[in-house]
Amino acid sequence: MKVLVTAGPTREFLDPVRFLSNRSTGRMGFAVAECARCRGHETVLISGPVSLDFPEGVRAVRVVSALDMLEAVRSELSCGCDAVVMTAAVADWRPEVRAERKLKKEESPPVLKMVRNPDILVETAGLRRGCVCVGFAAETDHVMESAVRKLEKKELDMIVANDVTRPGAGFEVDTNIVTFITASGEEQLPLMTKAAVAGRILDFIERRRRERFGC
Ligand code: C5P
Repeated sequence: MKVLVTAGPTREFLDPVRFLSNRSTGRMGFAVAECARCRGHETVLISGPVSLDFPEGVRAVRVVSALDMLEAVRSELSCGCDAVVMTAAVADWRPEVRAERKLKKEESPPVLKMVRNPDILVETAGLRRGCVCVGFAAETDHVMESAVRKLEKKELDMIVANDVTRPGAGFEVDTNIVTFITASGEEQLPLMTKAAVAGRILDFIERRRRERFGC
């Protein structure tokens, strides 16, 4: 099986040296890629800028912005994939204009006009047909309602919801507390390492493939 994983944050530049980003470290996605590889699957990991080493045996695709990530995902999906796990914390907005030179502090502070980035999952729904698709929903409030909405809107087989405000969950830690949500129900998992969550995600994907294709 060929598994495509996205990970990490994206950076949205306002001038050549400054960018907007988020707290994602890439650990969840790297754990998924490592687990897929260990189970013998061909694995491609598209990641925004992170300080982690890419797992051995995984094909690494490094990107910077949300638009770069969209292009990389499109290109991988066009070559065919069996499963997609989107853990990347893609920036929702980018500055409308990227200055060509460094903005000077002596000038008046910039007033940023932001524009929406494309939603990679929504944009690639057509190319993902036939793949088992898993997304993530990192939330601070109304966790379950938002996740269920995203499961449908983003045309996913499963969404992994987590409340990033809970100790031991979300950004910058090696553990997570997640709920798996599918069209047929929810499963709340206890606090576990990101490696263990990755294993459960791969279990789901392999089971779904067997149900769908008997392989
Ligand atoms: O809408 P939200 O950002 O909470 O959705 C999270 C899920 O959607 C994750 O799986 C993330 O990788 C994906 N996503 C995306 N493109 C975006 C934003 C999020 O594919 N622009």
